[in-house]
Amino acid sequence: MTESKGKVMAREAKNSITISGLRKSYEQPSKAGSAYAIDDISFEVPQGQFVTLLGPSGCGKTTTLRCVAGLEQASEGRIEMGGEVMFDARTKQHVRPEDRPIAMVPQSYGIWPHMRVIDNAAFPLRHGRNRRKGPEVRQRALEMLEQVGLAAMADRWATQLSGGQQQRLALARALLGDPQVLLLDEPLSNLDAKLRAKLRQELRSFQERFGVAALYVTHDQSEALALSDTVIVMNQGRIEQIDRPERLYDHPRSSFVADFIGSANLFPVRDASSGPGGGVLTKTDIGPVLCARTGQGEEVRYHDGGFVCVRPEDVGVRTGGTGATPGDNEFAGVVESAEYLGDRLELVIRTGDVAVTASTRAGQNLRPGGEVVIRLDPASTSYLAS
Ligand SMILES: Nc1ncnc2c1ncn2[C@@H]1O[C@H](COP(=O)(O)OP(=O)(O)OP(=O)(O)O)[C@@H](O)[C@H]1O
Ligand SMILES: [Mg+2]
Repeated sequence: MTESKGKVMAREAKNSITISGLRKSYEQPSKAGSAYAIDDISFEVPQGQFVTLLGPSGCGKTTTLRCVAGLEQASEGRIEMGGEVMFDARTKQHVRPEDRPIAMVPQSYGIWPHMRVIDNAAFPLRHGRNRRKGPEVRQRALEMLEQVGLAAMADRWATQLSGGQQQRLALARALLGDPQVLLLDEPLSNLDAKLRAKLRQELRSFQERFGVAALYVTHDQSEALALSDTVIVMNQGRIEQIDRPERLYDHPRSSFVADFIGSANLFPVRDASSGPGGGVLTKTDIGPVLCARTGQGEEVRYHDGGFVCVRPEDVGVRTGGTGATPGDNEFAGVVESAEYLGDRLELVIRTGDVAVTASTRAGQNLRPGGEVVIRLDPASTSYLAS
């Protein structure tokens, strides 16, 4: 009994996609020192999970997605789906895009304007991997349109849909291909803010309801954090960090991730050494800072360089001046600007030559020119080696 349950669990934990060591350059491979669009990318998309590639423009998100889809071929690496090899650079194995268990929703939705809504939706049923014939095709397409709230518009031309409706049509069409994985390249970027927020919730609930895995591309961090089980942060063709959204915010591994996800104070480190309580004692331009957290987990690499990272909401601020002597991890400063944002006060505090951003509860008497003491609680202060 226990054993068979164990087997089921093992099967459920199977990966829909496994990518290992993927590398691709658009330039001639012979060209010395040519830059890679993606450079040694490895990650997994577990069955039924929502995984997001997040990073700035040009970091290689679309290239990664197109390699997964089979629309591009990498020069190195391997791609497996559901345990089967789809691509292997060494053996030159390459399964054609239409034979992979995926459906892609490109940024522009890829809807055909010369077709009616129903024929757009039915396309993968008529021409896809598991093609069918007869009245069943229209029936299944209609059922899916019903699910996405478009059944009443089935016989309209696709161009007669609004942006949000086109997005839902693209999703319906993708799901009708019965994919194991949905590949979505910034599918919400053409929509207004309100519709985006609504559709991203719909997208997530469709993905869960149909039990498919999703590999989603965006450069919008709030979208990534709101939607994903796992976020893969990319920078210049490489992966910086793979983590759950809340871990990314609380435990960024690098200054790039800390800066890209939310806002962060990053103080360059001149020297780092082992500090009290297993922490890292750093020398920075604001003074010595003890950090209880590190970006690398347990193994800390001490070197000159790296950053002290602290989120604005983790910077403690109290009134300074005479009688307020700074203690450990505390620094005297002067309020440079104070911006009242209803629920909080955004402060820029100058200590020496360094500007520190702090976000505190409104109500304290903190005005520009006022003397303050800032406190960096070691427990919420990280040493990031890069
Ligand atoms: N067809 C191409 N030929 C040559 N270079 C390309 C091609 N497509 C992409 N690149 C380059 O590869 C790198 C990665 O591009 P990619 O489109 O994957 O970035 P991205 O992360 O999707 O960016 P964005 O957020 O702007 O869509 C960029 O430097 C880009 O200029
Ligand atoms: Mg792109």
